[in-house]
Amino acid sequence: MRVLFVCLGNICRSPTAEGVLRHKLRAAGLEGRIEVDSAGTGDWHIGKSADVRTRQAAQLRGYDLSALRGRQVSATDFAAFDLILAMDSSNLRDLQQLRPSNAKAELDLFLRRYQLALDEVPDPYYGGEAGFEQVLDLLEHACDALVVELKGRL
Ligand code: 4NP
Repeated sequence: MRVLFVCLGNICRSPTAEGVLRHKLRAAGLEGRIEVDSAGTGDWHIGKSADVRTRQAAQLRGYDLSALRGRQVSATDFAAFDLILAMDSSNLRDLQQLRPSNAKAELDLFLRRYQLALDEVPDPYYGGEAGFEQVLDLLEHACDALVVELKGRL
């Protein structure tokens, strides 16, 4: 089972989702059974570390994002992954455009899939510190729901 998180830059939301899900899978003893990755629809941050504000906020909650590097999503990801989860509606639209007609991967809006308080993870890049905390709050809840789903699918 392979899961890919996608946002715009791959330096704030989707790397956070990757780090949180990896942590929760490890805690659930599922580390080796599910592969997790993240990517951006944009190409500005290819090869770059996650945003320093993202890394610091994540570190304070026990998630180490230091090994993650930005990459851009591609059409081949639709064959390599089973589930591709977009952070906001704009990411979802871009992914629908990129999606090959014979795509294996299921594509969905991450928070909407689990009917959480919001449908989208707001982009924290141009905002203040609170935005990074909100991203973590939303993604921790959504990853809890995703782990339950993944356990049921294994
Ligand atoms: P992300 O946030 O999509 O959550 O990684 C952003 C990061 C960078 C930019 C936009 C959003 N940017 O415009 O460079």
